[in-house]
Amino acid sequence: MSILSTHFLWGGAWAANQVEGAWNVDGKGLSVADVATFKPNLDLQDYAGHNHISMEKVDYAIKGENIAEFPKRRGIDLYHHFEQDIALFQEMGFKALRISIAWTRLFPSGEELEPNQDGVAFYHRLFQVMKSANIEPIVTLSHYEMPLNLAVKYNGWANRRVIDDFVRFSTVCFKEYGQYVKYWLTFNEIDSIVRHPFTSGGIIPDQIEQGKELETIYQALHYQFVASAKVTQIAHKLITGSQVGCMLTKLTTYPNTCKPQDVEKTLKRNLDNLFFSDVQVFGKYPPLVLKRFERLGLHIEMTEEDLQIIENNTVDFLSFSYYMSLTEAVSDNNEKTAGNTVMGVKNPYLPSTEWGWQIDPLGLKISLIELYDRYQIPLMIVENGMGTVDKLTEEGKVHDDYRISYFREHFKAMISAVEEGVKLLGYTSWAPIDLISASTSQMSKRYGFIYVDQDDFGRGTLKRYKKDSFEWYKKVIASNGEDLA
Ligand code: BG6
Repeated sequence: MSILSTHFLWGGAWAANQVEGAWNVDGKGLSVADVATFKPNLDLQDYAGHNHISMEKVDYAIKGENIAEFPKRRGIDLYHHFEQDIALFQEMGFKALRISIAWTRLFPSGEELEPNQDGVAFYHRLFQVMKSANIEPIVTLSHYEMPLNLAVKYNGWANRRVIDDFVRFSTVCFKEYGQYVKYWLTFNEIDSIVRHPFTSGGIIPDQIEQGKELETIYQALHYQFVASAKVTQIAHKLITGSQVGCMLTKLTTYPNTCKPQDVEKTLKRNLDNLFFSDVQVFGKYPPLVLKRFERLGLHIEMTEEDLQIIENNTVDFLSFSYYMSLTEAVSDNNEKTAGNTVMGVKNPYLPSTEWGWQIDPLGLKISLIELYDRYQIPLMIVENGMGTVDKLTEEGKVHDDYRISYFREHFKAMISAVEEGVKLLGYTSWAPIDLISASTSQMSKRYGFIYVDQDDFGRGTLKRYKKDSFEWYKKVIASNGEDLA
């Protein structure tokens, strides 16, 4: 008998902007994702690619003279393939699918008072197909795709008024789709605003007053916390039985040595990561963070009402992404490696993917235990997977045994954490189908169980092929995690 509940939500996850394409179809407006260019050789020191954004680049993207430069605008054309793709997930036995709703399909500029009905209709079609396939939706309201107009006009989340725009958008989502959706996530990787403020918060660096960079980012984050709490309250009111979660990039970090200085630095890095879920689960800013704001002279506008809203509307569960662990050291003389929009010291005990992300299944178990022990609310793993260069054979096969072995080891670790008492609602892999990479906009960084015939430059038939991992994951789901062979 599997230790996992019979209701365990096995599935996959994607973000609208990385799959849908159809960037200007049926009234959709431009989002911050439509500005992201292809960056195969990201500088490891600027892994999030933040330095690539400026008002000049945004203006250039808006002019849209060379659409091909912006791969997220084409995605994998899921907009016109979703029925076929969901049929493949159904064949794999998916119980759940985590998607996001593109804010700009419903509110093209973010400022309209009424939603664009063609955009609303698209997600009705998508949810109906999922319902017929018996696949439970898990929906992220904001996954790196805020309206570009709000970024240009108000510097995104740096402006308090965006809270109202987001509440209006979310309320429409709850009213329209509450009939299909029980599980909602507010902000994808809410912590990521400190690493890539444009993608995550619509903040354009050269629009920030000089010397106010950090203050602006933490101010924007505060507004996201308030918005998240507000929409949590609205979801609970409008949808009976709804469950709202926060979403954290879990960046579990190990000390490079047992030297107390390394341990202290690591402790701070881990606390920095947990600060975000502390606010959303406990409903309060940690005192050490408030003290840091004071020490750094950051003046974050927080009203009494804001703090009350945050305190009274905490999340029902905590979801997180986990791709790799990191290592920290005081000394600068260590070899470094990339992680998910972060850099860390290279850990000699771990292998890495072709993109330098260190493969650490035990780190997933450590993360699950740490999070459950700290928060004691249900957890959900909503992103985990391995980006690789896959090869399609002449017979239309992809032999991705490396992916199978990545997942197998992570599932063992996950199951072992559940055996130790962690309450886990589900697992959605990133991503069930190849898509455009968030950080580099590459197509060649492939995550899926399903191969999509498209290259980095948009060439290909878009035909879908089952990889070897497709049949393997199907077996895992059918056995509820018992058969990992
Ligand atoms: C997560 C994001 O941080 O990492 C996803 O939520 C993203 O949107 C995933 O795709 C993997 O990162 P990348 O850069 O390899 O696509």
